[in-house]
Amino acid sequence: MKLAQRMDRILVESAFEVLVRARALEATGRSVIHLEIGEPDFPTPAHIVEAGKAALDQGWTHYGPTQGFPELREAVAAHVSSTRGIAVGPEHVSIVPGGKPIIFFPMLALLEPGDEVIYPDPGFPIYQSMIQFLGATPKPIPLLERRGFSFDLDVLRDRLSSKTKMLVLNSPQNPTGGVIPAEDIRTIADLVRDRDLIVLSDEIYSRIYYGERPASIASLPGMREKTIILDGFSKTYAMTGWRMGYGVMPAWLVEAVNKLMVNSNSCTASFTQRAGIAALTGPQDEVTRMVAEFHRRRDAFCDGLNHIPGIRCARPGGAFYAFANMTETGMDSNTAADFLLNEAGVACLSGAAFGRYGEGYVRFSYANSHQNLMEAVKRIESALVTAAASRS
Ligand SMILES: Cc1ncc(COP(=O)(O)O)c(C=O)c1O
Repeated sequence: MKLAQRMDRILVESAFEVLVRARALEATGRSVIHLEIGEPDFPTPAHIVEAGKAALDQGWTHYGPTQGFPELREAVAAHVSSTRGIAVGPEHVSIVPGGKPIIFFPMLALLEPGDEVIYPDPGFPIYQSMIQFLGATPKPIPLLERRGFSFDLDVLRDRLSSKTKMLVLNSPQNPTGGVIPAEDIRTIADLVRDRDLIVLSDEIYSRIYYGERPASIASLPGMREKTIILDGFSKTYAMTGWRMGYGVMPAWLVEAVNKLMVNSNSCTASFTQRAGIAALTGPQDEVTRMVAEFHRRRDAFCDGLNHIPGIRCARPGGAFYAFANMTETGMDSNTAADFLLNEAGVACLSGAAFGRYGEGYVRFSYANSHQNLMEAVKRIESALVTAAASRS
């Protein structure tokens, strides 16, 4: 049986492929430090787990409302209103199984062949995948290391056209860890405010930052009405396996997302949603502790990498990724990632897997113990020194 032609246009995430290769290497007895997967290495906070267990005991094991339980949507609306300084209500909130459906469903509801979508490159591969899957035209904008991995705003200005239907922003960013400065967000809002387009603002890492709090474009005048905020529980509360996220968007788009949810999932798991209420309304000190630990690791890991000849790594402002510039090693991204796995026993991702402007870089996730990160730095340095010695 032949697959539909559109399946030729869908992409996958390389993190899962690298994990399989790293595990195969481990099966041969090699030790591998896993810096490829993008999820917190902390457990879900105990009070959230308890709320999930209690929900199962209490019988929250049936279908729930497609849009999500009203109490959870109220909690999300209150959280988003206070953190973004805007007035949103439960009618603007869609609860879905993870952050990803807030890329999938709104794009499915909005994009048609011929529409152009602007998105960051390097960027989360699912944006490009979905854009081309739907027959729309991908318009990548390079992120610049010298601008803290923010957009090249001149290129953005040039790429906006009457066909631009959507602009994707992601801050803090995957794979660079970059945070878009508030001033750039203001400039971007001024560029798009009067255009007939919608902004998909992927803020899944909104609580994981180390300096200035990341600004949301939805907070700026006239922007709430034309912005979809993507956020969720996976990264903030170490809940990647619970599958729960949310979108905050205009009510007319919530209706469309509801229809797509009815046709695909019916609803997000009921007991998961009850745990989500506990996550948002309960104590937040474990989030604070986790972010403080990521901060400590970021500093130690980036400093360690910067001491290795041939590697340069800007200290990222958020998320838990270090995007290291490998160009001085003479290896391209794919070669560097393979080299680090096979010769150093350190699994990471090729920057090129995030788009053509990711060439020259590799992404390390520092969601691993301080001890493993320091060991990874040692191994990388020693593998590079050995390789240089064998060449000379
Ligand atoms: C930028 C970005 N957006 C969205 C997601 C999806 O998150 P979830 O696991 O909640 O679907 C991820 C996960 O890696 C991400 O990095």
